[in-house]
Amino acid sequence: MKRAEAAAPGKIILFGEHAVVYGRPAIAVPLAAVQATASVEPAPPGTGLVIRAPDAGVTVLVTPGSAGGAYYNALVYPAQVVLRTLDVPAPDMTLTLRSTIPIASGLGSGAAIATAIMRALSDALGRTLAPAELNALVYEVEQRHHGTPSGIDNTVIVYEQPVYFVRGAPLETFGIGAAFTLLVADSGQPSPTKIAVSDVRALYEQDRTGIGAVFDAIATLVVEARHAIEAGAIDTLGALMTRNQALLRQLTVSSDALDRLCGAAEQAKALGAKLSGGGRGGNMIALVRPERASEVAAALRAAGAVSVIETTVGAGA
Ligand code: PMV
Repeated sequence: MKRAEAAAPGKIILFGEHAVVYGRPAIAVPLAAVQATASVEPAPPGTGLVIRAPDAGVTVLVTPGSAGGAYYNALVYPAQVVLRTLDVPAPDMTLTLRSTIPIASGLGSGAAIATAIMRALSDALGRTLAPAELNALVYEVEQRHHGTPSGIDNTVIVYEQPVYFVRGAPLETFGIGAAFTLLVADSGQPSPTKIAVSDVRALYEQDRTGIGAVFDAIATLVVEARHAIEAGAIDTLGALMTRNQALLRQLTVSSDALDRLCGAAEQAKALGAKLSGGGRGGNMIALVRPERASEVAAALRAAGAVSVIETTVGAGA
């Protein structure tokens, strides 16, 4: 047993959320500006495995059967999965978790927290998990969070690379022809992914043909977006984002606040804007020319964004 520390980034879904649950492709990139970090220290004998999340004022003891409680899924379950996988009892250790990723906001907080906990704990136990194994384990945690995850969050966060993701298919990354600048704006309304995903499911069950056609339209645009990113065709990319947002509205996963932010971005001459992640709240993204970033960011704040992060998805990403 040794000290260990691990981090995991947030993520942004650029195109294809929700349709990706139904086998259509989606594109996501890591967001290094926000991170979850876990550090593990040996503790006195008899302490057991204690997880602390000081920013949330939480301390929990991991026992094989511990279940329930608000922090079970996010903090305890990833640790239990590691102990079960490595087939070891809970060690005498303290794991401290910190995260700057807003919860339930479409930035992959759940997957990033699980990734950081699992990496740090397995490292501390001297049994570093290979990326494919870690990815499968984080997916298991995601299933507990929201039932039918596509697997996009765990994949982009564990591998820390841009991904062209199709559910069940091997990891596929792609080149970025020219760096582009995004603003990531938080509507300030937390929205659990699980609810949006199950509402889309209900919509699909009512009208498989109509909603299936929306998923297909999203799939077509994701393929076009990949080509635009590879070619560095930024204007095309912006227009595709705005079209994706219109299709997400048809899936009922936008919200007044998200629509207002997208409208404000476009008025301030962003190249395109859409919600990102589960929707109904959480974050939206706006594609901007770098020289207009601060003006668009100001417009987003004026339209109600509680935070705006500027990030460059780079040629070297
Ligand atoms: O809200 P997030 O960051 O967990 O993103 C969810 C993405 C969905 O496509 C809505 C669901 C999924 O499992 O892919």
